[in-house]
Amino acid sequence: MRLRICVLSLLISAPSFAYAQDSNSLTIDGQVMVTETAAPAHMENVDTIYSGWRFRSQETQAMEMDDFDNPAFVFLDKAYELWDAVDGTEGKSCSSCHEPEDFTGLRAQLPRVEGEELVTLEDLINRSRVEHMGAEPWKWSGTQMTSMTALVGLQSRGLPMDVAIEGDAKPFWEAGKEIYYTNVGQLDMACSSCHEDNYGMMIRADHLSQGQINGFPTYRLKNAKLNSIHGRFKGCMTNIRATPFKEGGAEFKALELYLASRSEGLSVETPSVRN
Ligand code: HEC
Ligand code: HEC
Repeated sequence: MRLRICVLSLLISAPSFAYAQDSNSLTIDGQVMVTETAAPAHMENVDTIYSGWRFRSQETQAMEMDDFDNPAFVFLDKAYELWDAVDGTEGKSCSSCHEPEDFTGLRAQLPRVEGEELVTLEDLINRSRVEHMGAEPWKWSGTQMTSMTALVGLQSRGLPMDVAIEGDAKPFWEAGKEIYYTNVGQLDMACSSCHEDNYGMMIRADHLSQGQINGFPTYRLKNAKLNSIHGRFKGCMTNIRATPFKEGGAEFKALELYLASRSEGLSVETPSVRN
């Protein structure tokens, strides 16, 4: 406990200048995004939720406001090529069976429970590749998968995040919540230590957000590519010197469901831009 307080106080400080979190509204392609709204009732310690966009510098924010300036759209071009590319033993492409618009609303409602399983967008895409195309599954955070999750996610841009957390989903949600609040790693921190207790503060040169997932996959200036949700979780766990869970594994899927429920009501911003 003492160690944790000590490490936190070394790392975290109040911002010394005004941040965009205080003002600014986000409009993309004429569509107004909800970047701030009342927290859902299940969140006990937070009154208002904010998109990560609100915590970025004005230059980074501006990139997301215009699709021509948004570097993620290079990967969307790639995704449209993949969409039409025949692959696998069945001689099919995505376009043999789907239109992108068929997926309107899907991003906002994932992950969801099917049978005994919690299913993410990556799972659904790979299921189609394996079962309907006879093709190899894509790597969880590889460029093909993140480009395709961006294309599918873009069809829901502007719609409110809205995952189901009751009924069959409840045990997964509980498991995700448990992970969110459990201290791990050499720095002995939980997701909540930064994204709930200290959002709005500075951590070194970075403005801490609430760690929302409404903008994923997200283009990061740091690594100049699209980043998956689980890839981001992995990075945060590595930063606190914990051994990260596996991308696509049960722990990160449960955590994804829990985080999606903490984004409830924020607009899907896919594909977002962050530093
Ligand atoms: C031969 C037809 C076929 C092809 C080709 C195909 N799919 Fe599918 N896809 C389906 C069917 C049928 C379903 C619904 C049942 C299921 O999930 O298996 C589906 C479901 C999906 C879903 C979930 C939709 C929802 O609302 O639950 C996504 C996302 C998806 N496919 C993406 C893709 C992508 C991306 C490709 C190309 C990489 C692709 N599919 C190729 C037939 C196909
Ligand atoms: C030591 C502090 C710290 C901890 C602990 C931490 N993160 Fe982060 N996280 C950051 C920083 C810094 C960023 C980048 C700036 C920001 O968006 O907050 C970030 C970004 C994120 C983002 C991207 C937000 C966006 O808008 O794109 C997500 C999602 C996230 N973290 C989830 C998690 C999860 C889940 C955990 C627990 C496994 C966790 N973080 C633990 C510091 C932390």
